[in-house]
Order: sequence, then structure tokens, then C-alpha cells
Amino acid sequence: MFYPEELVEEVRMKNDIVDVISGYVRLQKKGSNHWGLCPFHNEKSPSFAVSGNKQMYHCFGCGVSGNVYTFIMSYENYTFPEAVKMLAGRAGVNLPEVEYTEEMRRKENKRARLLEVNKEAAKFFYYQLRTPRGEIGLQYLKKRELTEETMKKFGLGYAGKNGTDLVQYLRQKGFEDELIKEAGLASFSETRGLSSQFWNRVMFPIQDINHRVIGFGGRVMGDGEPKYLNSPETPIFDKRRNLYGMNFARTARSGNIILCEGYMDVIAMQQAGFTQAVASLGTAFTSEQASLLHRYTENVLLAYDSDGAGVKAALRGIGILREAGLYAKIINMQPYKDPDEFMKNLGKDAFKERIDQAENSFFFEIRILERDYDLKDPESKTRFYREIAKKLCGFSEEVERENYLQAVAEKYAIGADNLRKLVISYASQTGLARPIERPKSGVQQKSSPQESRKKSQRLLLTWLTDEPGVYQKIKRYISPEDFTEDLYKQVAARLFSDLDKGNYNPAGIISMFTDEEEQREAASLFNTNLPALETKQEKEKAFRDILLAVKRNSYEYYTSKLGTDVNALKQVIEGKKALEELAKAHISLD
Ligand code: UTP
Ligand code: MN
Repeated sequence: MFYPEELVEEVRMKNDIVDVISGYVRLQKKGSNHWGLCPFHNEKSPSFAVSGNKQMYHCFGCGVSGNVYTFIMSYENYTFPEAVKMLAGRAGVNLPEVEYTEEMRRKENKRARLLEVNKEAAKFFYYQLRTPRGEIGLQYLKKRELTEETMKKFGLGYAGKNGTDLVQYLRQKGFEDELIKEAGLASFSETRGLSSQFWNRVMFPIQDINHRVIGFGGRVMGDGEPKYLNSPETPIFDKRRNLYGMNFARTARSGNIILCEGYMDVIAMQQAGFTQAVASLGTAFTSEQASLLHRYTENVLLAYDSDGAGVKAALRGIGILREAGLYAKIINMQPYKDPDEFMKNLGKDAFKERIDQAENSFFFEIRILERDYDLKDPESKTRFYREIAKKLCGFSEEVERENYLQAVAEKYAIGADNLRKLVISYASQTGLARPIERPKSGVQQKSSPQESRKKSQRLLLTWLTDEPGVYQKIKRYISPEDFTEDLYKQVAARLFSDLDKGNYNPAGIISMFTDEEEQREAASLFNTNLPALETKQEKEKAFRDILLAVKRNSYEYYTSKLGTDVNALKQVIEGKKALEELAKAHISLD
């Protein structure tokens, strides 16, 4: 934290959120909220709600939420200290300059400067593309059938054959050599001095979801190596956490997101109207990227290359998406190599058809698996069926598993009963017990173990923030340590201590975090819908299930840490005791 917490709170409280946001968005009071058009996605009817009571905003359309700091950070592209500064100025609160440690100031400054230097470089490349020297780049992009409008939208540019122009330009704009190097824009050599990293390439600025340039990909003209050169990782360029095109895809509202392999694929798709297309950044798809996608959609369509490498990448991607609780389908690109070529040859209507025909990821996996077996050979065929049974065991929800079982049995003409026997035998061999039916607490569902752990912790926190009174009834069973997700643990620690002191303050909890993403995640806890339950019994049962799920997870977590974590033993003993007590206890929600 750059400023003392009390000061951050004072500034927040002196800036009424309805007041502040009214300066940016036309708001209308309806009920207890003020409503307006969400500034973070395109919409025609208002789903953006600002609550004066809670001092928070939440968009029911795109799901963003936060307090007044989060709003300013997202809207103005400010860092946390910048947002504090601005709001302090607005409310006439004096901020001490000294509160920045040297280290923090440097770090903040560094990020801001890196963003600036990238922005300037993007401008430079953009301009170069439109000069005679950039003609070769412009011709190249035109040959690839990009319109002027598309080039503009993606800010495409050109890095010339002269290695020092960019450096000179940036120096003249006041950037130090050290920074230019750190941004990966130039490198130093004895012979050439400081010279541009990108050379004779068309340039693709890579933007974060707020349209800030965080790095570049450059495509060589002709056949040089490497085909694409990307900026190195920097404090602002984390390749695992960003997706190319996400700044546009987030507002596409298409009900799905299309994941491609290449920058050109994204551009060709978006040009054809599929503005929901994104791609990873020259590295394999990651679980962090899956979480980013999850903020905007549950449905991901894979439009990977149709070659062997593309299929392999798709299989890997499916696993990651599933683990993050997303549904994946695979778009068939045959006979073309990638979406870019497909679009050029068959056009958008044909692609739309391919979207509608996209293959369920499970069938895709089975179909690929089938290639390894000879179905004319009984031995090989049996092994194939066993593999299918094994895969079916991956569905922990019985109904879902049974649906897939029937579908796959039909498709491969296997007797459903026989296949079911195989599944049961496989499950008992490997100790995969039949999952018991659980009630509708909102904890289970077809999500991965990691996701459902997170979910029960999130539900418990949401419940407590919704009905803070319940805390007193369960405090003896639960502690912040039970939240094994780091961010939730921090929120729980603060929430519990606030509640113990009797000052419950959700909007204040959000500004414990200085990172915009973390603020959003914390804010989402206060804006998630709990399962809609009718009766008091249902509610109490659901609450109990959630509490038990959190405790059980915590118990298992610390059991696995025994011997490596000094706190584990204490947690395990206490956890066991709490679980035993909870087994007998009745928790009333009155
Ligand atoms: P592809 O080679 O499939 O790219 O690599 P592409 O989009 O079809 O390229 P064009 O159409 O020939 O221009 C897919 C992605 O992998 C990364 C880039 O992000 C690229 O968009 N890549 C590829 C690299 O980072 N470096 C490389 O040398 C090649
Ligand atoms: Mn291509």
C-alpha cells in the first residue's frame, strides 16, 4: 500500500460513488440503485448499477464491479496511487508525498513509463507504415486483404530497415536508453550502438483489455526467421495473462469467444465481423488466460490450425478450459489451414456455419483418440472402449456422465449397458468412487475440483457479505486460514476483523487491493448471486453444505501440507474438531 489505509478510506468516503460516476455516465435513480449504460461494454439499455448504500457499482451485463477506486482505475486507465491522487484532489484531501517508499515509487513509475514508451513506439510504427519507406509493409498487409479500417483498428505499423530511427525518436520524446531497452524495443551492440529490436517487420501492437499497448509482435516480410518476433516479458507484459484481441472481444456480446492461434487469425476474423476472436501471445494457452476468458463467457470455440500441431494444441487447450470451468467446442477448419485462410477462401457465412457445427470437445477428443486404434481388431477395439470408459469417468456429475455415455455409445455402436459396466469397473479399479448426489447448494455442478474449491469459498464469503449477521453463528468454526485461495484469505481476514469490531465495510475491503484485477475479483464477492432457494430449510441446508465444503477442503489442504508447513498440524487438528462439531450442529439463519 502506498498510502496508509485510513487515508485511502478517508479519500474513498469523501468521494461518493454516485457523484463520481455521474461525471462519466448518465445515471438515473430507480429503486435503491442508480442505473446507466455500462462504460465498459457496448449496450443499448442500462444494466450498469451504482449503489449509494454499498458504495459499489456492478454491471449485470458484463459482470464488472468495484468501488470508486476500481471505477477510476478502469475508466481512466490509472494505477491505484494515481486513482487515490485524483480522488484526493477532487475531495480536497491532502496527500503526504512521503508515503511512497523509494522502491514503490520506482516500480509505479516504471510501469507508467513502460506504458508510455510502448505507446510512443506504436505511434512511430503506425506512422512509418504510411510513409514511402513503409510501403513494403502496407503492400504486404493489403495483399493479406486487410482493409484500411482494420489496420487502423488494430494500430498496425511497420518497423523499417533503419535500426536507429525508432531509438532517436524515442530519445527525442524524453525516454532514457535504459527504459527503451527494458521495454524490449531496442538492444545495444558495440557496432551499432542502441538499435531497434524489430527490423523490417509489420508490427502488431499487443493491447491489454483497456486498450493499453503492453508489447508488440512483429511479422517478418517474406521468409525470415523467426516469422514472428515478440516483445520480451516486462513488468507490464505478462504473456500468460493477456490475450490478443481481448480488448475488442470483451464487448462483442456474442455469447462465446473464439480462441485462435495467430494474430492474423484474430484480425481476419474480427474484420469478417467475428469480433469475439482472440489469440494467445506467441506462447501456449495458459490457465491464467482461461480465467481471463471466464470473466466474459462460459463458451469457448477453438479455431486452431487444422494440422497436427494445431490438434495437439487444441487437446491441451480443452483440458485447460475444462479445468477453468469453461465449455469448449472445436471448429473444423478443413480443408484450410487456419481461420485466416478459411475466411479468405470461403468467407464469413461459411464460417458461421462452421461455428454452428462446432464439435463438442469430448467427441473431438474421442475422435482423435480413435485414430490410434484399429477397430477391426477386437483387441485394439476393446482397448479403445476402455479408453472411452476412462474418459467418461472424468465427468463427476452422474447425469452428465450418463448423457455422454449414451451419446458416445450410439455414435460408436457400443451397447450402452456394456459401456456402463466398463465405466463402473474402471471406476472401482482406480478407486474412483461413484459420486454421491448432492443437494442444490450451488457448490457442485460440472466444474473441476479446483474450480469447485474456489466456488465454495467464494459462495461462503458472498453469503457472509450478504448476511453479515450469520458470521457470529459460525465464527467458532471458521478462520481466514480456511480460505486456501490467497485473495479470499485476505478478504476473509479483513471481513472477519471488521465484523468482530462491528464495522462492516465492503467498499473499503475492495481498496485493500491495489491491482485492478484483484479489486474486481474482490468486488465480485459482493455482487454474486447466491443460489435462489425457497424455503428456510433449503437455505439452511445449502449454507451448511457450503460451510462444510470449505472446511473439508481446508482440512484436506492442510493434511496434504503436513510435514512441510509448520501451521498445518494445528489447522488439521482444529479442522477435524470443527468438522466433528459441525456434523452435529444446527446453524439457523434467522
Ligand atoms: P502461425 O505460424 O500459425 O502464424 O503462428 P500465422 O498467424 O498463420 O502467421 P501468418 O499467417 O503466416 O502471418 C501462430 C502464432 O504463433 C506465434 C504468433 O503469435 C503467431 O501469431 N508465433 C509464430 C511466434 O510467436 N513466433 C513465430 O516464429 C511463429
Ligand atoms: Mn496464417
